[in-house]
Amino acid sequence: MAAAVDILRDKIRSRKARAGVVGLGYVGLPLAVELAKAGFHATGIDLDERKVQSVNDGRSYIPDVPTADVQALHAKGLLDATTDFAVVKDLDTINICVPTPLRKTKDPDMSYIVSAVEGIAKYLHPGMLIILESTTYPGTTDEVVQPMLEATGLKAGVDFYLAFSPERVDPGNPTFQTHNVPKVVGGFTPNCSMLAKELYGSAIETIVPVSSTRVAEMVKLLENTFRAVNIGLVNELALMCDRMNIDVWEVVDAARTKPFGFMAFYPGPGLGGHCIPIDPFYLSWKAKQTGFDPRFIELAGHINAGMPHYVADKVADALNTRRKAVNGSNILIAGVAYKRDIDDMRESPAMDVMGLLLARGAKIAYADPYVPVVHAREWSGGYDLHAVDMTRGQIAQYDCVVVITDHRTFDYQTLVAEADLIVDTRNAIKERHPHVFRLGAPHAAHSTEGKAVIA
Ligand SMILES: NC(=O)c1ccc[n+]([C@@H]2O[C@H](COP(=O)([O-])OP(=O)(O)OC[C@H]3O[C@@H](n4cnc5c(N)ncnc54)[C@H](O)[C@@H]3O)[C@@H](O)[C@H]2O)c1
Repeated sequence: MAAAVDILRDKIRSRKARAGVVGLGYVGLPLAVELAKAGFHATGIDLDERKVQSVNDGRSYIPDVPTADVQALHAKGLLDATTDFAVVKDLDTINICVPTPLRKTKDPDMSYIVSAVEGIAKYLHPGMLIILESTTYPGTTDEVVQPMLEATGLKAGVDFYLAFSPERVDPGNPTFQTHNVPKVVGGFTPNCSMLAKELYGSAIETIVPVSSTRVAEMVKLLENTFRAVNIGLVNELALMCDRMNIDVWEVVDAARTKPFGFMAFYPGPGLGGHCIPIDPFYLSWKAKQTGFDPRFIELAGHINAGMPHYVADKVADALNTRRKAVNGSNILIAGVAYKRDIDDMRESPAMDVMGLLLARGAKIAYADPYVPVVHAREWSGGYDLHAVDMTRGQIAQYDCVVVITDHRTFDYQTLVAEADLIVDTRNAIKERHPHVFRLGAPHAAHSTEGKAVIA
């Protein structure tokens, strides 16, 4: 009789394996689509009925996933979704792609992983492959997931297979998407690694095996901590440059001409998204448990978290050149998504900047073609904010426009022509103008009349 591992490998190779993806968000939906494109019957499991309905209606809700793909795969019977974990009974593989946020105390919030694994454990059966993809601290797979699944009486590496594979999706990136970003895979045993490699190898171009689940978990945290620390460094440089009347953008652009040993990072209004502001704290939390003090992570977190305050001060400085106070000024925030050309608001520094300006008495409006509503009841006086137009004729009514997200669809020429004052936190406006104040760059000096002149 063939061993269970061979049976599952053959099922994967022949595409007879039924694939499941738990959590159909920015990570899970693209993965389910890739698996279905590779020929598997892929079933998504999500608690959000709207997402499930959308997949079953053949509609995408993730900008990087074309509706045409979801529609075609659903029509071929290769892709569907459900809220009911009972479907796990019929599945051979499961990728877990649920959120891993931080609690207010900056401790990992494992509740989503725990509830997803509880849902799977109820229907776990011999011969299954379970892969955790959610970004998390090293040790999660064997300290949290494995014991929960083994409480069923089945043993990891023997009765079922267990692996960790970090997701590296970069929302909005037209070049690198799920299928062509190399996939790091670490199994609990060599058989677990082999099966995970087989599964991903059917849908993803390059697989990078590592020796354990913990190495795979740490790889993701290194990647994201690397970004957080380097952004922290360049943000600190921006603050320095501001004091020293040096243009940090020009400095970085010149430095990046070095063909080796340098990688460009740019300053900004603060960190955003579900990864960079959060993941390094998963690592520092775990490191502290071993008595290790992870100083780079904490320092970068401190500098990056201070950037919205710096932007608020910059707005106050800009208004000062007009003899205006923040209090009572009409301020338009241009772009609230955490990065350009996407609709993702998670951890967006725009929320912090708006909150700080509101606290100083400003009247806030925002424009963002990707984000029609900002749920801001808690801090904006009990009402949500709705996006306004930033088109010709709409801009002059504001005392200051603050560019937080440099969406390519914004008409910067009109903005420069019509705005009285602009604070540009992204170097979106390339030409120099006396009424444009850039983060980390010398701004217009003040003349004795209080009018700005080009520095
Ligand atoms: N978004 C990114 O750019 C990105 C990149 C790399 C890694 N990651 C990591 O991938 C993981 C998922 O991130 P995401 O951006 O896809 O999150 P998301 O919020 O877009 O999607 C998560 C989905 O999981 C569902 N969910 C939550 N609990 C569930 C449960 N118990 N059972 C079933 N479904 C459940 C939610 O309803 C949601 O649809 C996180 O750990 C994140 O850190 C995200």
